[in-house]
Amino acid sequence: MKTIIEPFRIKSVEPIRMTTAAERESLLREAHFNPFLLRASSVLIDLLTDSGASAMSSEQWAGIMRGDESYAGSESFHRLRAVLKDLTGFENILPTHQGRASERILFELVGGKGKVVPNNAHFDTTRANTEHSGARAVNLPIPEASDPANRHPFKGNMNTSALEALIKDVGRENIPLVMLTVTNNTCGGQPVSLENIRAVRAICDKHRLPLFLDACRFAENAWFIRAREPGQQGRPVREIAREMFSLCDGSTISSKKDGLVNIGGLLLIKDPVLFQRACNLLILTEGFVTYGGLAGRDLEAMAQGFIEVVDEDYLAYRVRCVEYLGERLLAAGVRIIEPPGGHAIYIDAAHFAPHIPKTQFPGQALVCGLYRTGGIRACEIGSLMAGPHHTPEHELVRLAIPRRVYTQSHMDYVAECCAEVFKARHALRGLRITEAPEVLRHFTARFAEV
Ligand code: F0G
Repeated sequence: MKTIIEPFRIKSVEPIRMTTAAERESLLREAHFNPFLLRASSVLIDLLTDSGASAMSSEQWAGIMRGDESYAGSESFHRLRAVLKDLTGFENILPTHQGRASERILFELVGGKGKVVPNNAHFDTTRANTEHSGARAVNLPIPEASDPANRHPFKGNMNTSALEALIKDVGRENIPLVMLTVTNNTCGGQPVSLENIRAVRAICDKHRLPLFLDACRFAENAWFIRAREPGQQGRPVREIAREMFSLCDGSTISSKKDGLVNIGGLLLIKDPVLFQRACNLLILTEGFVTYGGLAGRDLEAMAQGFIEVVDEDYLAYRVRCVEYLGERLLAAGVRIIEPPGGHAIYIDAAHFAPHIPKTQFPGQALVCGLYRTGGIRACEIGSLMAGPHHTPEHELVRLAIPRRVYTQSHMDYVAECCAEVFKARHALRGLRITEAPEVLRHFTARFAEV
């Protein structure tokens, strides 16, 4: 088989600044060993997140110019609604400024003290918004998700027997909705199978519970279903995505991922009464129902993004790009969460730097090593991010790949740098915190090397 190429050519380029190892050493020290505190211009390859970092297409940029900035009833909103209706079947859609705004509205409406929200695995902001409402957020991953080396094809699935047990335990009246995150970011960007979504739907039907999708990365998830699920091989991705949405009663979406835009989100709700209440809250804090905190041009770019993201040549390239990086890291001896997920590679930092105890943040030590060696910015997802009161299952470093931004040679470079850091891993040094806020400390904490 031939190389799967980037299915686009480049029309506009943004230079990245080369730095020397000596410059990076002093920049890292100035940033107190926390790359979140670096200026982005000091970063060569930025793998901090895949969110809001996509490159837009010429059609999306054309849409930016076409955007209708009318306060109410904008043509751009109607275009977006038509695209989403076609893609998801949903009539009731609300634009929001990003995913967490959709989550805030939803959980303000359905959450509250005494409520319990099951999810295959909550993303941080979904958990935070659930808990902010007073409700309890419960993760129900399958057991295979705990083993980084287990190559289960749908490691993002929800544990359906654990869901049944939870419903029995807390009572269906205390569960406002069941949520499935596709793909499952917290468990490594792993997909959820159509079979699992159907099974969760059946449980929800049995107990008369609504099912919501956190559908930030629905297209990557649909691609994995097409590639891996028996009976789904070769089925058009649009059709699979349509079925995924047809199985749920609503969805929160951060369009900064598979919407291929730099800002924007969506809230989809089937129930007309709940939808009306969401409209009222949206107007209170985001904006009128036909713009929801965005400009008309943002809606226009989003509409086009949701058309482009289900293009199968794009998805083949997208998923292959992440898989390729994963294969190269495995070949270099680096342990990662297997199989590679849809949007990121998660390195097992505890295996990478076994000489650094959890209390000295092996993940952050690796993050610093990657910046020093190659100007690569990655993100710790381990003891540092979890905070002082939680013990995470794994010490991970996430290399998230922005969409349509980097080429194969960039991925080769990242793999070479990781291999170089791995060879010299015994030189990585643990870190201690010198200053940190109470919550969400990983963003602004300062460190010194041990
Ligand atoms: N749900 C999931 C699964 C996410 O990954 C994110 C964001 C959100 C919700 C919230 O969306 O940022 O638009 O408010 N994930 C980003 C990341 C930040 O880096 O994984 P948002």
